[in-house]
Amino acid sequence: METAEVNVVTGAFSHTGKYITQRLLSMGKKVITLTSRVDCESAFGRQVKAFPFNFDRPRELADSLRGAKTMYNTYWVRFPRGQTTFDKAVENTKTLIKAAEEAGVHRIVHISITNPSKDSPFPYFRGKALVEEAITRSRLSYAIIRPTVIFGAEGALISNIAWLLRKFPIFAIPGSGDYQIQPVFVEDVAKIAVDAAHKGDNIVADAVGPEIFTFDELVRLIADNIHSEAKIMHVRPGLALFLARLIGCAVKDIVITKDEIEGLMSDLLVSKGTPVAQTLFSEWLNQNVDGVGMKYTCELERHYR
Ligand SMILES: NC(=O)c1ccc[n+]([C@@H]2O[C@H](COP(=O)([O-])OP(=O)(O)OC[C@H]3O[C@@H](n4cnc5c(N)ncnc54)[C@H](OP(=O)(O)O)[C@@H]3O)[C@@H](O)[C@H]2O)c1
Repeated sequence: METAEVNVVTGAFSHTGKYITQRLLSMGKKVITLTSRVDCESAFGRQVKAFPFNFDRPRELADSLRGAKTMYNTYWVRFPRGQTTFDKAVENTKTLIKAAEEAGVHRIVHISITNPSKDSPFPYFRGKALVEEAITRSRLSYAIIRPTVIFGAEGALISNIAWLLRKFPIFAIPGSGDYQIQPVFVEDVAKIAVDAAHKGDNIVADAVGPEIFTFDELVRLIADNIHSEAKIMHVRPGLALFLARLIGCAVKDIVITKDEIEGLMSDLLVSKGTPVAQTLFSEWLNQNVDGVGMKYTCELERHYR
């Protein structure tokens, strides 16, 4: 009997990794995952075997990858906190790449971000560029997929904008709000990633949706759809950050960081290329209006507690 091809997905129980895993399982592939939620109940039950990241035990890490053909890597951190820094995330990813080489993994499909740059003032975008460089210099065949803001049932940014618009009488847009954003649907990212695994050549490609909004338009579109009565105001970025920190105290989270506000305002979440993803954010929002932003999505809860 033919045995199913084994694929590794880092973060199969989290956000993007979950949709990549769903797609692979539906294609009859066997999936294993690396995660810090090894003992967590997952929607996949016993279908997906979980191994710890083991960044500090490279040999064990390589052992867990042995026999896998493709590794889909979603591992990254949203912001630095305590021992978790962007430098550490870069180092960990380099360890993962080396372990994949040693284990004989053939191809890596790596989820990056639009507009990474080693010269970026933002450590997130700088770190992503360093990881991409490590991948292109590795012995692995690669597909580097660069999404913008990912939306879907569990996507934090869009969902939390909706939550704020539902909960508070005002919504503070940092600065003019004329900076652009090109959201992409999580299932489209998963499809692009899985399709890219089956191409032979090395690929670096943006994964962006068909609609571009200014941030102001995006917030107003969400507000209109959910019938929010919040007054949308433009404030200095520093004041927006201060208000986000106040709300952060209430929800016990980091709602948004200074770098995230500045990154958003620097037009980094938009692509110069032709969009490959097809799902319209406006349509998805319209169809999911009852669910979006009904509860706050807490990053510290997801990855730190
Ligand atoms: N979300 C977006 O809007 C967006 C936009 C552009 C690019 N991206 C990129 O797309 C990829 C997937 O993003 P996602 O939002 O779907 O991520 P996610 O599912 O929340 O996390 C992806 C992986 O990173 C691990 N991880 C996340 N934060 C961590 C932390 N603080 N400490 C240790 N491990 C951590 C998770 O660990 P567990 O398995 O233990 O949960 C999971 O394996 C990332 O590389 C991200 O940079 C995301």
